[in-house]
Amino acid sequence: MAPTAPKRRDEYREDVAGRANVADTPELLTYYDDLERYEAGALWTVANKIEPWQPRSGSVPVLWRYADLREPVMRSLDLVTAEKAGRRVIYLNNPGRRDVSAAVGWLYSGLQVMNPGEVASSHAHSASALRFIMEGEGAYTVVDGHKMTLGANDFVLTPNGTWHEHGVEATGTACIWQDGLDIPLVNALEANFYVVHPDLQQAVGHPVDDVRSAYGNPGLVPSTGTWSKPYSPLLKYEWAPTYEALNRYAKVTDGSPFDGVMMNYINPVSGGPVMQTIGAAMQMLRPGERTKAHRHTGSFIYQCCKGSGYSIIDGRRFDWRERDIFCVPSWTWHEHVNLSDRDDACLFTFNDLPVMQALGLYREEAFGDNGGYQHAAG
Ligand SMILES: [Fe+2]
Ligand SMILES: [Fe+2]
Repeated sequence: MAPTAPKRRDEYREDVAGRANVADTPELLTYYDDLERYEAGALWTVANKIEPWQPRSGSVPVLWRYADLREPVMRSLDLVTAEKAGRRVIYLNNPGRRDVSAAVGWLYSGLQVMNPGEVASSHAHSASALRFIMEGEGAYTVVDGHKMTLGANDFVLTPNGTWHEHGVEATGTACIWQDGLDIPLVNALEANFYVVHPDLQQAVGHPVDDVRSAYGNPGLVPSTGTWSKPYSPLLKYEWAPTYEALNRYAKVTDGSPFDGVMMNYINPVSGGPVMQTIGAAMQMLRPGERTKAHRHTGSFIYQCCKGSGYSIIDGRRFDWRERDIFCVPSWTWHEHVNLSDRDDACLFTFNDLPVMQALGLYREEAFGDNGGYQHAAG
């Protein structure tokens, strides 16, 4: 048998001053083998790989069409019980991130479905979560004793460490919502705990929707009591006041050249993001609006919750309509277009920007060529 060629160790060489540029020699190859025996290695063989010139996302842009996913999501109602599945969810699996079950970057997302009368068991975990209601009547979530009723385009937080459970009232209809979590990030940090509530259900200890009455008033927070937890006490963000706010803001702003009229969901006490690891925003593209391309660090998952249009992501066009979900990986060019000349289009997004910002890793860049627009390959 012919001897196999020794493994190359200089495939990441770069002929650039300041970068590793060491050619293999028989002597060095022997040396590298020696180091391997001690679970060690020469940095210059991997430095250019582990320190790229700019972020290189392993995720690929993906569009998940609701027209494709709704039927299989509904079919899961007949295939597994919510009780056996724990949570009856079809998750979004980015082809570049299958090893960590991420939809993009370090973010997880899935579509959860529940029948009227079903209640999931109460639990808590280190991962922070949100759910954005896609369809159905009668959905509710209980977070640390606060029960919140939920309708289409409402979104609710279940932050790190809170007891939470989801259900649909017996008088409601089958409900589908999008889950968004930082599970891959928390797992990467090796810090994830999960616990099931000892009673399987928690008692509702406050009037229904009390958080909205206490913290959902623009420019006002209760004068008594203190909120010192690191996430928003509002917990639920409703669609009607959000859409009204976007319309009001649209009257007095030109909007962002990259995002149209965009507003962040915030913690009304701190002014910061809704949770420590996940931020969320709603943006409105006005009739006929076409934004310019930019890119930034951080991973983004979008859901179209009104209208239709397309986004160009890394030079590829992705057409979306209501309930479609798509992702923009970190440091990837993207721009958005509203295809209607009459109606606005709205995109909900959640992202890991709070992590990027807290760690000093946020960077943003405008697309310089072609008047700020990418050439779309279609
Ligand atoms: Fe959960
Ligand atoms: Fe962006």
